Amino acid sequence: MCGIVGYVGPRGSEAVLLGGLGRLEYRGYDSAGIAVISDSLESRKRSGKLQQLRDELVANPIHDGHTGIGHTRWATHGAPNDVNAHPHIADGGKLALIHNGIIENFSELKAELLNVGVEFTSETDSEVAAHLVARAYRQTGNLTEALRAVVQRLDGAFTLLVVHEDEPDVVVGARRNSPLVIGLGEGENFLGSDVAAFVEFTRNALAIGQDQIVTITRDTVSVIDFDGNPVEPEPFEVTWDASAATKGGWPSFMAKEISEEPQAVADTIRGRIKGETVHIDGFDAKTLADIDRIIILGCGTAAYSGLVGKYAIEQWARIPVDVELSHEFRYREPVLGEHTLVVSVSQSGETMDTLMAVKYAREMGARTLSICNTQGATIPRESDDVIYTHAGPEVAVASTKAFVAQVTALYLLGLAIGQANGKVDAATLATVVRDLEATPTLIETVLLQADRIKTMAKWMADTQAILLLGRHVGFPIALEGALKLKELAYIHAEGFAAGELKHGPIALIEPGQVVFVIVPSPRDPNSLHPKVVSNIQEIRARGARVIAIAEQGDAAVLPFADEVIPIPLASPFIEPILAVVPLHLFSMELATAKGLDVDQPRNLAKSVTVE
Ligand code: F6R
Repeated sequence: MCGIVGYVGPRGSEAVLLGGLGRLEYRGYDSAGIAVISDSLESRKRSGKLQQLRDELVANPIHDGHTGIGHTRWATHGAPNDVNAHPHIADGGKLALIHNGIIENFSELKAELLNVGVEFTSETDSEVAAHLVARAYRQTGNLTEALRAVVQRLDGAFTLLVVHEDEPDVVVGARRNSPLVIGLGEGENFLGSDVAAFVEFTRNALAIGQDQIVTITRDTVSVIDFDGNPVEPEPFEVTWDASAATKGGWPSFMAKEISEEPQAVADTIRGRIKGETVHIDGFDAKTLADIDRIIILGCGTAAYSGLVGKYAIEQWARIPVDVELSHEFRYREPVLGEHTLVVSVSQSGETMDTLMAVKYAREMGARTLSICNTQGATIPRESDDVIYTHAGPEVAVASTKAFVAQVTALYLLGLAIGQANGKVDAATLATVVRDLEATPTLIETVLLQADRIKTMAKWMADTQAILLLGRHVGFPIALEGALKLKELAYIHAEGFAAGELKHGPIALIEPGQVVFVIVPSPRDPNSLHPKVVSNIQEIRARGARVIAIAEQGDAAVLPFADEVIPIPLASPFIEPILAVVPLHLFSMELATAKGLDVDQPRNLAKSVTVE
């Protein structure tokens, strides 16, 4: 959480920082602030969304300079007000510091500073770091060394950026368990929580490792570890297009990102299917064939993609797959075998719960694979291997296109293992590969129903609670649909395995209760279609209002559903990728009909970098 940007170069800092913060606002939008050095250091900060800061800068302009730092906050310590907004100022107004993360020992450090007469203006943990760096700077006279001295004393997770009026052409950053990447320009350099901060200006980036400190000037970038030893940062090229991080004429990032779901699948497959075989970089056939168990880790939507992946991997590779919420996995003693592969799924690649779970799995000797959407992010760097989902930047806080890309990547993994261990026969492999290649076009067909779904959502704007039912791969889709409705439309929504209904949840059904049912294809001889149709009848008999997401032409559903959202004919494992699209659209449209901000729902941040 919290977005961070730093700049040194010939451009006016204010515009660079505000542009970067605009692209990082998905990380938190409780407040925003910048500090710029011209002749002296000046800062402006405001609670609320970035627009409040923009308005403040119009009302109360800053003397623009060529060095600056900017921050967009997701509040942890201290209310989301002007005072607690970053930057935090110290050293009599000469030093500014911004922070992402949590300084766990801030109470002790604050007590120590209060004892020596330091005055605090905010309730944040971050201000402690600002005063500590100011005091260290008085001793060292060097901003890099001052920050290095301070990080030794901090527990927890942090990215810190600091500027000082006496070193007007320098920004210094430090990171531990929170993200920070470097953007390399010509005669200018950038720092950002992720590449979106500077993608408008440069595609050349450097990844900074854990416990490292970076110092940028216009022409130099130097990185040292917390002990002061020089470090060679790893270069990478940013493949995201700057325009990909803009709305491009859509009313919201979410609307644009849902429209990009076909492309997200196509780009995730690209280069990984050769003929009728699947290739995963970093894994030879023997390593894949040796994997005898998989544990998938993730949170929220990422975990639900893992649940869909479980059904497919077990079917194709015939190895057991467990899916665990990252924060649960880490705090117990899981049994990991020599050939267990721990697969983390994360759009941001920064989710602290998942990062810590991956580290834990590695400490326990497991091989780790990251399925991630963000280049240069921490989780892939901390993992043995990575499959990047090429969904492009996802700016809306709630995940949509990343989900379909994650499911696709997990399918590719399942096929690659099944192919290597011989458990998937050539004919099945060829069919699934062809089905996957056809999926983007099928999603396009589902998207054609956007207007109808919008109309449905408008009618239902007053709905207070929605239940969702699915079986097999339809079950995780019900969970994903419920999560989207909660976080976007702020209504109670719950997904159930349809078979579980009679074990309790059916008590919730009363006349008028809206229930979405994900109906499997009737064409598959092993399909659970008849059972789901029976479930529909059971809830209909109790007055439920049923909205079925069912295969086009499924005549058995028609008499029992109030509405049918048809999805095109597809094989069983492609169905969930299609069925989720109407749920993404419906959640967005219901939130829009209620007048809510679909890109930045209340209380949330996209990149959850605190535990
Ligand atoms: C839901 C959503 C979250 C994320 C979760 C994991 O729409 O976006 O549930 O899926 O916080 O985030 P990543 O994938 O970045 O690890």
